Amino acid sequence: MTPRVVVDGGRLLGRLDELARVTATPGRGVTREAWGPHDVAARDLVAGWMSRSGLAPEVDAAANLIGRSPGQEGRWLASGSHLDTVVHGGPLDGVYGVVAALEAASSLHDVGHTMAHGLLVAAFANEEGARGTAGMTGSYGCIGALDAGWLDEVDDDGVSVRQRIADAGGDPGHIAAAQWPVDQIDAFVELHIEQGPVLDRAGARIGVVTGITGRQALDLHVVGAANHAGTTPMDLRHDALAAAAEIVLAIEGLPRSGGIRVATCGHIGAVPNVRNVVPGDVTLGVELRDQSTAAIDAAMRELEAILDRVADLRRVTIVKEWGQRVPPRLAATHIAASVRRAATENDLAFVELPSGAGHDAQVIAEAVPIGMIFVPSIGGLSHAPDERTEPSDLVAGAQVLLDTLLDLDRPRGER
Ligand code: GLV
Ligand code: MN
Ligand code: MN
Repeated sequence: MTPRVVVDGGRLLGRLDELARVTATPGRGVTREAWGPHDVAARDLVAGWMSRSGLAPEVDAAANLIGRSPGQEGRWLASGSHLDTVVHGGPLDGVYGVVAALEAASSLHDVGHTMAHGLLVAAFANEEGARGTAGMTGSYGCIGALDAGWLDEVDDDGVSVRQRIADAGGDPGHIAAAQWPVDQIDAFVELHIEQGPVLDRAGARIGVVTGITGRQALDLHVVGAANHAGTTPMDLRHDALAAAAEIVLAIEGLPRSGGIRVATCGHIGAVPNVRNVVPGDVTLGVELRDQSTAAIDAAMRELEAILDRVADLRRVTIVKEWGQRVPPRLAATHIAASVRRAATENDLAFVELPSGAGHDAQVIAEAVPIGMIFVPSIGGLSHAPDERTEPSDLVAGAQVLLDTLLDLDRPRGER
């Protein structure tokens, strides 16, 4: 019987600490917007660790960092997540899944254990959607779905995704080169903090993810008429911000009136944004999320009717642009079974739950069977500076990831 391979918890936590220091906002959470200097610095740090763990690191055409065990010709197992963060985010979202996948590679390398499969560790680029872009750029590149239209999209600073990828060391002119040989990959397993309260409340150490929520983005442009705030009578106004306020509350109300699980307006821009001018121009960034595509479609129809009503009532024009849709995805049942076995072997209480957040795994799921493992988020907090997980849970999650990969490495009949 082969001796058990155990992750090095100190190394895992040390690497997470080191990466948390690579931020544009020291002391105010972690800000590592995709493709920017801090994101690239974090990627370089991880590339160095990959080399020391027996993986060959490569920045691919989509600016993902991919580490592969060298000399492998056959079947592969893949794991990883992302290094970019939201603005004023926390130290674990994404990063944990990359560092833990790397820890699996490092601990196998330490004891000279060679798996039957090759191991691929991925740090995907732009999971979060930096500067207003559609997210998951890197993982879409890996399944060959990053097309010219997407590359030409410009961000909030007027810079194209194509340029951003090139600036971060990718090769957008040969974007197809980022595509994985997906028929040679047997599984992609992503370890992540839960980012919600379920595990913390249940006192469970591990989450076995059953599926990942779908997400529909929407950009709204509310056009009224800017005018003098002292002289324009109330009944003659075309106040774009007041109209936007009604829209924001109606969006918040969508889950109450029916099918959709969550609906959020998280971004607002008002022009000219001056106290003594009736606002003439407002932009809103909206998203709808649910496990069911039909529920998302129904909420879209309901929202369209609300927008027509508000436009009429407030005498404004509302231009809507339905944006990125990342469809809901289910985890592969045999991968979830491997995660359950790994949790049980490690004596860790687990619960099964769907993911309320989006993840690279749901993009990879279009081409490769996927599974996800969660560890608890203290207080259910994420996308915020106080995002934390107990260190012992971080180490336990990494061990479950390693044991899941080792389980999947065995022929099905021997698991
Ligand atoms: C990913 O971070 C998401 O917004 O779900
Ligand atoms: Mn996130
Ligand atoms: Mn994430």
